[in-house]
Parts: sequence; C-alpha cells; structure tokens
Amino acid sequence: MTGPGPVDEGPRTVALRTLLALERGVLPHLSDWEPPAGLEGPDAGLARELILGCATHARLYDWLADRFLRPGPQPAERRIAIRLAAHQLFALDRVPPHAAVATAVGALRCVGCPHLTGVANAVARRLGELRLAERSGEGPLGRLPLDLRPESEAVRHGLPDLLLQDLGDSLAEPRDAQLAALNRRPHLCTRTRPGAPQPTGGSILKREGPWTWWGDPHEALRGPVADGRCVVQDRAQGRVAEAVLQTAKARPGDAVLDLCAAPGGKSTALRDAGLVVLSADVSLAKVRDMPDELHRVISDGMQPAFAAGFEVVLVDAPCSNTGVLGRRPEARLRYDRQHRDGLVELQRSLLRSAASLVAPGGRLVYATCSVSPPENQGVAQFLDGWRLLGEHLAWPGEFEAGGYYAVLIRS
Ligand SMILES: C[S@@+](CC[C@H](N)C(=O)[O-])C[C@H]1O[C@@H](n2cnc3c(N)ncnc32)[C@H](O)[C@@H]1O
Repeated sequence: MTGPGPVDEGPRTVALRTLLALERGVLPHLSDWEPPAGLEGPDAGLARELILGCATHARLYDWLADRFLRPGPQPAERRIAIRLAAHQLFALDRVPPHAAVATAVGALRCVGCPHLTGVANAVARRLGELRLAERSGEGPLGRLPLDLRPESEAVRHGLPDLLLQDLGDSLAEPRDAQLAALNRRPHLCTRTRPGAPQPTGGSILKREGPWTWWGDPHEALRGPVADGRCVVQDRAQGRVAEAVLQTAKARPGDAVLDLCAAPGGKSTALRDAGLVVLSADVSLAKVRDMPDELHRVISDGMQPAFAAGFEVVLVDAPCSNTGVLGRRPEARLRYDRQHRDGLVELQRSLLRSAASLVAPGGRLVYATCSVSPPENQGVAQFLDGWRLLGEHLAWPGEFEAGGYYAVLIRS
C-alpha cells in the first residue's frame, strides 16, 4: 500500500499524513506501507522509522507532551507533529534536537496547518529540554531521566492497559525488558526450500539449518526470495510447522488440514516436509493470492465442508497480533475488551470445529501470533475432551517474533 501525499514531500510530512490516515481509519494497516514514489533511500527509511516509531510510542510521547499542553482535546495534526518531534528527540540519535523540532513543525505547515505550529513548536522545544544528552539505555526511555519516566508500564512501553492486565504476573523479571521486547522488530528471516542451495549475501547476520537472518531485507527479497530458493518465514512461525512434525508426529504422506491457511506460510513449510496439505481459508481474495503449488480451497472454518479423517488439523487462528507489534504497531490500538473477547470466541469456535475433523488418534495444533494468555492458553487448555501434548510461547526478540502453539490429543 502506498502512503498518501504528493510525490515531492519529505519524510516527516509523509509520516504525518500516514499517521493521520491511520488515526482516521483510512489506512487500516502499517505492515504493508510503502513509501510514495519519489521518496527513496534514506528518506524512505526515515519515513518508515518515524511512522512505526510514533505508532509504537504514541502513549509515551502524548504523556510527556501533556505536561506542557492545556488539558482537553488536541487537533490530531498537532498531536502527531509533536510525536514526530518526540520520536526524533528521544529515539533517533542522529537527528540534532533543533532539527527534530524544526522539521516536525515544518511538516505541520506542509499539511496546511500553519495555525497549529505555535503551540507545537513550544511543546516540542520543552520536550527537547527533557532529553538526556547521554543515552542511558535503549529506545526513547534511554533519553529520559529516571524521575521523568511514567509510572505506568503500559505508558512506558506504549502498550494497551488491557494487555498488561492480561499478562498479569506471567512476565519474568526484569519486566521492563520483557515489555520493551514486545516492540522489537525482528530481523527478516528466510527459510531455504528443500534442495535449494543456501543463500549468500553481504548482510547475512546468522544461519541455523535452513534459517537465515538478514540485516538488509531488500538483499533477501530481491535475491533468493525473488528467485524462489527461499521463502520469508519468521522463526516462530517455523516452530509451528516443526511442532506438527515433532510433537504431533506427522509422517510424510499424512493428511494435514490447514484450516486458516492464508497467506500460506505454514502450509508451504508442511508441504516441504512431505505432508499432504489441504490449505483452506475463508477469504476468497487471500486464497487466490496463496502460492499455486498449494491445494487451496475457500472454506469457513466454522462450517467446514470436509469429512473427518485428517491426521493433523492446524488452526493458525486470527488473533490480536500482540506477538508481532514491532511489525504491526497499529495492532495495539485495537486491543480492547470487545475486540479481544470477540477474537477469543472466534478462536474457540474454530478450534472446536477443527477438533471434529481430526481422525481417531490424530492431533490438533493451535497457533497464534499473540502473547496474550486469554487467546493462547485460555483457548487451547479448555477444549472439552482434549488434553495438551505440548505447548510453546515464543517471546519477541532480535531474531524471532512472538507467538504460541499448542498440540492437543483426545483425552
Ligand atoms: C494468522 S492468519 C493465518 C496465517 C497462515 N497460517 C500462514 O502461516 O501463512 C489467519 C487467517 O485466518 C483466516 N480466517 C479468519 N476467519 C476464518 C474462518 N472463519 N475460517 C477460515 N479462515 C479464517 C484469515 O483470512 C487469515 O488468513
């Protein structure tokens, strides 16, 4: 998806317009954001960083700005311009403070809001006065004196209050490190297809069997991914396919139903392992976009038109994406009680329906890209007539996104 805005705009203005479109619901996702034509190289990189960073840390930046603003509603353009200044001041070490303020205020002028620049400029300058000259840690908190950091963990890390409640005391110490990791964008990871040579490249950071991590995603995308030697797949997603083989003990030739298959990452991995995979999804458009090599079918997982008899049924359920907030920072905006409860209901229905399709002695595998216990253990551990064979929660980090899987067997 191409960001809004005329072609000759600079990165801050493009970021301001994109964040406005997100706030107004015109732009639903940031994960497929592409810079507009004319914005290239480091400028495109800066725009992306500002968009993802401001969407991630909006709560922290608003909390800081509120020290200097009159109470009451603020025009969205001014709020966002102040966040742009704050992100440059606190998170991006390469932008000098005076430039951080001037460019954010300049963007406000470019989007036709010169009347909002006075207050924005004053607040951004005051924020600049709070900035530590020497960084004391990573991220925006590393530029804030300890006594100026918010008490609320949710505000400190830009997370929804409800997610903190749902995580409860399940977090290991130090909690701040764990919460900060939720905002990490892991390096791009590829899986080499069976029989293909291992990729080479100057930006390769690490390898592990068929897995390769890349410092420069474009090198992978334009090279081994474009020519089909590798597929983009996060390591955490790969673990789900491994669980189908190792914990659920699927053997080459076994029939696997992937009930929520699009865009087809796990189906492809299972097929590469020699399983006979039926890749179903409710969305016609998404089924169309899945790779041709898969056996694709349109089907509502809650009313599937298949006979029972699969050795394994995989439910990679729609979820809150709280394990991939680094790549999808906007997912945090949706995480409220109504949304979460709706997801849990859908996840439970899909799992119940999937259970009815498993052959006697077969296995059920449940997976999400979420770290939220109600969507994970809360769904997998309470399926009547089934017990847990194994489960795994991946926490996001430098080389892996967050996610969960559980393997179930009839009790
Ligand atoms: C997390 S994604 C699956 C990712 C996929 N397994 C992969 O590895 O590439 C969840 C999918 O569930 C699909 N979905 C949502 N509701 C569904 C339903 N009622 N029946 C089947 N699929 C559904 C969505 O269209 C979406 O493609």
